[in-house]
Amino acid sequence: MQLKLKLTVAAAIAVVAAGAAAQEVVRIGNVAPMSGPQAHYGKDIENGVRMAIDDMNAQGVVIGGKKVKLELLNEDDASDPKQGTAAAQKLCDAKVAGVIGHLNSGTTIPASKVYNDCGIPHITGAATNPNLTKPGYNTTFRIIANDNALGAGLAVYAAETLKLKSVAVIDDRTAYGQGLANVFKRAAAEKGIKVVDEQFTTDKATDFMAILTAIKAKNPDGVFFGGMDPQGGPMLRQMEQLGMTNVKYFGGDGICTTELPKLTGGAKTIGNVVCAEGGASLAKMPGGLAWKKRYDAKYPGQYVLYGPYKYDATMLLVDAMKRAGSWDPKVYIPELLKSNYKGVTANIAFEPNGELKNPAITLYMYKDGKKEPLN
Ligand code: ALA
Repeated sequence: MQLKLKLTVAAAIAVVAAGAAAQEVVRIGNVAPMSGPQAHYGKDIENGVRMAIDDMNAQGVVIGGKKVKLELLNEDDASDPKQGTAAAQKLCDAKVAGVIGHLNSGTTIPASKVYNDCGIPHITGAATNPNLTKPGYNTTFRIIANDNALGAGLAVYAAETLKLKSVAVIDDRTAYGQGLANVFKRAAAEKGIKVVDEQFTTDKATDFMAILTAIKAKNPDGVFFGGMDPQGGPMLRQMEQLGMTNVKYFGGDGICTTELPKLTGGAKTIGNVVCAEGGASLAKMPGGLAWKKRYDAKYPGQYVLYGPYKYDATMLLVDAMKRAGSWDPKVYIPELLKSNYKGVTANIAFEPNGELKNPAITLYMYKDGKKEPLN
């Protein structure tokens, strides 16, 4: 009797073990700044990826007839190009099935070569420098508009709607900031806007009094800043301190965050901001508002900007694995390129170079400290 019981227990354990073995684990890497001045973007990004993984695991994921559990491997690139390539190599060595990353063009562009060398695809819903897709790697995918669209959209608005005659341009010397400032400068000049001064800073600086004083002396109608909100916020505050209260302030997605008003410390110059984002507004996204409600319930107060794009990127990656019946990158990369995915942010399909087909762009202003779409 006792022997029989023992055998039954052993058999039960074997069944559980076989069940556990039947559920394979598929790991997805996520990489963004989790530390440093841009960690708030990284948290929002991680939340987006985590929410997608939780949603899919809750529903049950079957790839190639096997029930799988998705697992997140989260890495910190600290917005630093060197740390970015190190993190990419770590994800390659861990043999993750795919990567969501990165935030900054300055980290994404060098990391894209690492992913290509190890044959693992990465999708970014944040890095916007057009050069990212220039090498033609079959492992690089972007699901937002790039800076050619953002810079041109802002220049057209400055010239045609606001009728500005002169601007000064500042960039943070990163691949993103410098690239976007160059696109804006070219497009503004084509529209007859005079660029009266060019200054630069870094993505670590918080004191802009010297460059703003130099710009103030040239009396431009607007300032364009290519950079991120940890610089944009204090810069707007210092513009107020210098009395530059009637100067329009332009920037790309990097400053177009819910965090920007807080980072200005309440400066009224927030009302002069016009910024561009490489997607539709939440209200115009196919599933934006319902998704945002669920996000806010799960991660209160942590929404910054990129969460929904990174959510879609994660869903898209697994959608391609399902269609391929495999999470082996060699097998599912061709399916990823053929994606036709109804996401929260857009219907996502790719150009042959991995750029999003038909991207939207949206311009925003801040009214009473709240980001409001202009289109
Ligand atoms: N769009 C920003 C970049 O490319 C975040 O760096």
